[in-house]
Amino acid sequence: MKKKLFFVLVFAGLAGQLAAAPLGLPPVPIPEDNPQTPAKIALGDRLFHDTRFSADGKVSCASCHSQDKAFTDNLPVSKGFNGLTGTRNAPTVINAAYMKTLFWDGREPDLEGQAKQPFVNPVEGGLPDHKPLLAVIRGDRDYVKAFREVFGVAPADINMDHVARAIASFERTIVAGDSPFDRYYYGGDEKAMTPAQVRGLAVFVGKGRCVSCHTIEQTQALFTDNRFHNIGVGFKRIRGKEAEVAQRFLQAKRKGANVDVTVLTRANVSELGRFAVTENFTEVGAFKTPTLRNVELTGPYMHDGSLETLEDVVEFYNNGGRLKETDPLSGFLSGGIRPLGLDEGEKRDLVEFMKALTSPGLDRFTQR
Ligand code: HEC
Ligand code: HEC
Repeated sequence: MKKKLFFVLVFAGLAGQLAAAPLGLPPVPIPEDNPQTPAKIALGDRLFHDTRFSADGKVSCASCHSQDKAFTDNLPVSKGFNGLTGTRNAPTVINAAYMKTLFWDGREPDLEGQAKQPFVNPVEGGLPDHKPLLAVIRGDRDYVKAFREVFGVAPADINMDHVARAIASFERTIVAGDSPFDRYYYGGDEKAMTPAQVRGLAVFVGKGRCVSCHTIEQTQALFTDNRFHNIGVGFKRIRGKEAEVAQRFLQAKRKGANVDVTVLTRANVSELGRFAVTENFTEVGAFKTPTLRNVELTGPYMHDGSLETLEDVVEFYNNGGRLKETDPLSGFLSGGIRPLGLDEGEKRDLVEFMKALTSPGLDRFTQR
């Protein structure tokens, strides 16, 4: 035990900070131009929790990604300033550090890029631009000191890249593995999962075909393939008008409409999914496979928050999504999505298995 702890400490020391991967996860990818330092992480933590960066002074990143709620808001769709609602469910920030693209449609390539958007989104932070935010920072003695220490900048030179880099560094510390599944599968502890969870794992990788998108690898499991699929969640909303909605969206985009704003404020456009980024018509209605780690705590589910419980999710998949196979639009659906024929016991076991993906110690990330 002692030896292991020593090893972990040395590893963390060598890699700068907190880089030792928890059981079941790979090392956190750290961009070369944004190395982790304790001071930068602490600054990011503070920025993440500062409600002054919003139009009504009440909304911070943590309003929608709260540590108490496994870094979600447990709402179907998020509430921004003045209680305005968007079109999408807030994914957890836990393990977002491993995502190859950010947002349900993958429209941001990294955490740094993602972190700049919410402040100025009209249904989130609601600021007209980033100037008021930078003014708050430049007028705050503690922030000025911290930005100087972390980035070596004078107050007038603090910009959104600095802000985004600090927030992203904080987010890269919000990683969690070591769940009962990890201890069972990678740690060799046969007792870590209950018999129902062990049976549920068999359904997950077998008859349920869940693992084809929610991946489990030899030494690690992110439970996402980092790819985009239409599993038929919200497609019904735009069925029959998908070509028209897509066309109108493209016209607006050509005229310079902000994609981040459009997808979060217009319900029909939101349902275009990955198409909004790639403009590839076959990706209408496709969304990023979310991780299933800590999924027990992050409901309601799916990009539109339309499924309330894990039982509902399993029922949904067992029915082959919401479109009948005879529906002409079912051609949009991804391969794995067809009726599964699971019996009641298998459905229960599958739900139990997903509860084995909850990590311990999810209250340890923020100092605030
Ligand atoms: C009003 C609620 C709200 C606020 C405030 C908010 N978010 Fe989010 N967040 C969301 C929603 C909703 C999504 C999904 C949007 C989408 O996919 O189009 C999201 C997505 C994300 C993702 C992508 C996760 C993934 O798996 O792709 C990250 C990371 C994130 N937010 C971090 C932040 C940070 C950092 C801040 C503060 C700068 C912030 N959020 C502020 C609601 C919010
Ligand atoms: C074809 C790929 C694919 C397969 C197969 C698949 N999923 Fe998914 N899963 C997704 C995608 C994509 C989403 C998000 C869809 C959306 O919101 O539109 C998702 C969402 C979920 C969610 C919601 C998570 C959240 O945070 O909202 C759960 C839970 C889930 N899947 C469990 C399962 C289970 C259990 C199975 C097997 C019965 C399964 N999935 C099979 C791709 C897949």
